[in-house]
Amino acid sequence: MGEGYSDWDIVVIGAGAAGMMCAHVAGYRGRRVLLVEHAKRAGKKILMSGGGRCNFTNLDAAPRHYFGANPRFCISAMKRYSPYDFLELVERHGIEHVEKAPGQLFCADSAKPIVEMLLTECEWAGVETWLSTTVERIEPLGQGFELLTSRGRVRCSSLVIATGGLSIPTLGASGFGYQVARQFGLEVLPTRPALVPFTLTSQWKSRFEPLAGIATPVIARCNGASYREPLLVTHRGLSGPAMLQASSHWLPGDALEIDWLDGIDAKASLFRARIDTPRRSLGGWLSDRLPKRLALALAQWACEAVGVSAETTLADLSNARLEALTAQLCRFSIKPAGTEGWRTAEVTMGGVDTQAFSSKDCAVRDVPGLYFIGEVLDVTGQLGGYNFQWAWASGVACGQSA
Ligand code: FDA
Repeated sequence: MGEGYSDWDIVVIGAGAAGMMCAHVAGYRGRRVLLVEHAKRAGKKILMSGGGRCNFTNLDAAPRHYFGANPRFCISAMKRYSPYDFLELVERHGIEHVEKAPGQLFCADSAKPIVEMLLTECEWAGVETWLSTTVERIEPLGQGFELLTSRGRVRCSSLVIATGGLSIPTLGASGFGYQVARQFGLEVLPTRPALVPFTLTSQWKSRFEPLAGIATPVIARCNGASYREPLLVTHRGLSGPAMLQASSHWLPGDALEIDWLDGIDAKASLFRARIDTPRRSLGGWLSDRLPKRLALALAQWACEAVGVSAETTLADLSNARLEALTAQLCRFSIKPAGTEGWRTAEVTMGGVDTQAFSSKDCAVRDVPGLYFIGEVLDVTGQLGGYNFQWAWASGVACGQSA
């Protein structure tokens, strides 16, 4: 300890997924590491993630599942620390896990053991952790940095910013990392909530509200991206994996396209049904394929849009009308009012521009000793465990180097 300040090799700000990973990896290298967290406990987002069971990785964590101004930035770190490396750590700690969907690994019971595992690793690696500690100021020194914290002055030769994105402020999210980036002359690309449910205009809200609770597989398309996943109608709007994924591509004013028939050849199927079951209505035909209340509502809206009564039998529908109805069901277009925003978004799109960084260890090229890792950077994954894999991999890359 120096005069009036404590002295460390590395200070990591943010005891979330990336910060805890980085801290213990650096600690095992013999570095004296201080981990600073402003919340009362570490890893709050991990505890809330995956519906409380943490979808901690995806075995198919390839670069095509990530977005950002430079989608290749994540390659180096992700190559050197794969989903199987994290899985090995999880298994070494005896944490039971399940593959809920192909490649998507979740804890079997609760996310708690993941946080305990990371804290244990930090303890074994000799990391000092300060919770409920705020950083008021960061000053660059000739070599290294001095931080004014709520627990006094701290000096370090390497400073790692692992403060995450803006989603869910009640879980500790802050714009601190962006502030630090600007202080050091780094560009922060515009941020917006992603992996977030959509809200609806009053017209569509009143139509969908009675259907709240219904889930069905769909294909959702937005700005050239397409996802085959379940959609969930909620009291607030449209959610479920299909909508969360589409939200990452959505900008205010854009329309979403939903194929309620999940990719089946609806036109061929409807033409066939007109021969086989001519006395059925569109709603009756749809009820074989979708939850009944949803089927009847969609049939009603489609018939309204095409200008026929919902009671019309298939036999009484012309080819042109059948085609128009098919389009209403398979290319259902809706303009959301907006999204639920930071309150419920899982991630932040945008963030600190990676252009100024080495992809090898997430170091700022022009500021020796300064690193940014995890979600604070402009690297955003799709839904399915990809965001945690980026947090682990960038944390390890930095921890091996800082
Ligand atoms: P993270 O947010 O984990 O950690 C940042 C830490 O910094 C926090 O502890 C915060 O309190 C702290 N901090 C912030 N400002 C500070 C300051 N000024 N001073 C000190 N500390 C500060 N991903 C996935 O792959 N699978 C999943 O199942 C889910 N599920 C999920 C559910 C929900 C509800 C959310 C909100 C998010 C997810 N995610 C997810 C996304 C995932 O949680 C996220 O991408 C990672 O936690 C990012 O890791 P970071 O370490 O970068 O930030």
